[in-house]
Amino acid sequence: REPRADAHGPFHAASQAQPNIALIKYWGKRDAALNLPVVGSISITLDSLWTRTQVRFTPEQTYDRVSLNGRSDEAEAKRVTACLNLLRERAGVAWGADVASQNNFPTAAGLASSASGFAALVHAGANALNLQLSDAELSVLARRCSGSAARSIFGGYVEWAHGQRADGTDSVATPLLDADAWPLRVAVAITSTAAKQIGSSEGMNRTARTSPYQSAWIDTQEADLATARDAIHARDFDALALISEHSCLKMHALAMASQPGLLYWNGATMECMHRVRALRQQGVPVFFTVDAGPQVKAVCAPSAIEQVKAALRDVPGVLDVHDTGLGAGVRAIAKDAVEA
Ligand code: DP6
Repeated sequence: REPRADAHGPFHAASQAQPNIALIKYWGKRDAALNLPVVGSISITLDSLWTRTQVRFTPEQTYDRVSLNGRSDEAEAKRVTACLNLLRERAGVAWGADVASQNNFPTAAGLASSASGFAALVHAGANALNLQLSDAELSVLARRCSGSAARSIFGGYVEWAHGQRADGTDSVATPLLDADAWPLRVAVAITSTAAKQIGSSEGMNRTARTSPYQSAWIDTQEADLATARDAIHARDFDALALISEHSCLKMHALAMASQPGLLYWNGATMECMHRVRALRQQGVPVFFTVDAGPQVKAVCAPSAIEQVKAALRDVPGVLDVHDTGLGAGVRAIAKDAVEA
């Protein structure tokens, strides 16, 4: 096949992206092949956790080599190749790539490494092939690799639309508010470092097939999105706290009602949620959210972060508590910034 990409290499670039945490959750797909969601979602992009990825295409190479945190990983390599195929298709090339990626936080433990991972991969891969893509186009491509990655293209408060079109070109993320405009902080309580048992895609699939609450989930999402959007634009912490906890608990109730039920929490997860609610009752501006894993993310006002961290550290079963602010979207970094 005749390469359309600029024939003057090197076809090499690196990018960094931060994970995001959904406040109004994405759960369920309307099209598995294009990875289109049944519902829209709203998230915050973090700042001190990151994935750094470098991609180097070699015209004569016929395969991809993938290293994650210095190790080759077969299962991830398949997803990486599928993702790079979308970029190769855009560029009209069939070149193999060497991909090296590093996270500064535990992978597959409910900390959304796929969001930052695929946002960084799409950005670096597009730059390596000299594709001139808009943020919206990058978001669409990242979405096809992992839904939540569509949101990590942008910083701060981000909404990802479920979209109406069958081809998914309108299922794209857009920024709602900059991180600096409302710099909330997040404490992440790690309650287990084991890889999660049931991945998001499989969990969503089981939920759609077996949960009796699936249609109620879809029917009530628009109202939650509107409430959260208004709370963010008004910087109304209490309103955002109530709607975010509601969306989190509703997603878990939906998943728990599957057959067999999906139980992403452990005892410490539950205890952390109670601790966060007790703090809020005492007037501390904090709320929790939990994704498809046992970690608890406590979102709070900057003035409350030390108190929130101390309270979570005190919960039996909490192994560690990280602390992060809200950050920017994906960006290019120096080539060779990542060790293979
Ligand atoms: C619970 O983005 O990991 O974190 O599209 O199948 O890759 P795929 O799923 P993924 O799902 C994230 C689910 C969630 C909620 C959210 O981030 O909105």
